[in-house]
Amino acid sequence: DWNMPDYISEAVEKIRAQVGSDEVILGLSGGVDSSVAAALIHRAIGDQLTCVFVDHGLLRKDEGKMVMDMFSKNLGVKVLRIDASDQFMGHLAGVSDPEQKRKIIGREFVEVFQAESAKLTSARWLAQGTIYPDVIESAGKGKKGQTIKSHHNVGGLPDTLNLQLLEPLRELFKDEVRKLGVALGLPHDMVYRHPFPGPGLGVRILGEVKREYADLLREADAIFIEELRKAPFETLHVPGIDAGKAPVNWYEATSQAFAVFLPVKSVGVMGDGRTYDYVVALRAVQTLDFMTAHWAHLPHELLGKVSNRIINEVRGINRVVYDISGKPPATIEWE
Ligand code: XMP
Repeated sequence: DWNMPDYISEAVEKIRAQVGSDEVILGLSGGVDSSVAAALIHRAIGDQLTCVFVDHGLLRKDEGKMVMDMFSKNLGVKVLRIDASDQFMGHLAGVSDPEQKRKIIGREFVEVFQAESAKLTSARWLAQGTIYPDVIESAGKGKKGQTIKSHHNVGGLPDTLNLQLLEPLRELFKDEVRKLGVALGLPHDMVYRHPFPGPGLGVRILGEVKREYADLLREADAIFIEELRKAPFETLHVPGIDAGKAPVNWYEATSQAFAVFLPVKSVGVMGDGRTYDYVVALRAVQTLDFMTAHWAHLPHELLGKVSNRIINEVRGINRVVYDISGKPPATIEWE
């Protein structure tokens, strides 16, 4: 158990010694790891760091704005936000195979990032928020020679940029990264957020990804998350919590929770009219390692409230279902 201020000054010294007066680029995703890496590197070298934030159009509600507010406004970090949603949507049109979608998103991500990075001709380093479990996982994959789902954010970034790799979180576990983030001034809620997959809503919209679907899903998901944060949690013993303290609400009492868009229509009634609209599935799990997971026994009143709100507030969704599948045999994400 190390002392945080000491750890930070040591890490800062190490980064300064490593990069000297060189410029550094970092791909900011909005996730915890790249955010903490950015905050740490910025603490060390200030404006020598430029972050590139690729918005693929598959982020959660207000996520892009949140990232810009936090880094650009609050911390004074140089961030280039690239709105590449047209490009991503274009390449995803007509594609419904999950692995194909992941490949496309990964490939486009690299392409957009690379194109932006190439403009920063003075950069000599590429910083990444690789953490210890990523290092282990990638090594394991190589050996077994198989991936169950391809994760595009590990080891998937450009070799062709001719940059040296800067990975200041390489020795840290997730809980250490979170503590570091808080010590660096990142908001608690951001640092203790549930994990979000690199391909984003792309793997939570079943089949073909369309902007209309993403917009509906963003609204439904935001309602679910808001209600989980508002719902008090009272039982003390729940496995799989990494909030650094006993959970006070159902968001903290679950390891991951989100809405999934199902592109099937079902019939409903609303007022005097008949509706024929899409379905949203809610998924909430508790897990320690994300390799196995239990579905969360959310209170029925909470589920009822979320369902009512989604159906009333999100025009285009008229049915909400709850996923009661464990992993295995189901995975956490639906694709
Ligand atoms: P599954 O669905 O395989 O998910 O049970 C386990 C954990 O991994 C996350 N996940 C991903 N993360 N890129 C990512 O960065 C991906 O392609 C991806 N697929 C799944 C998932 O959110 C869960 O936390």
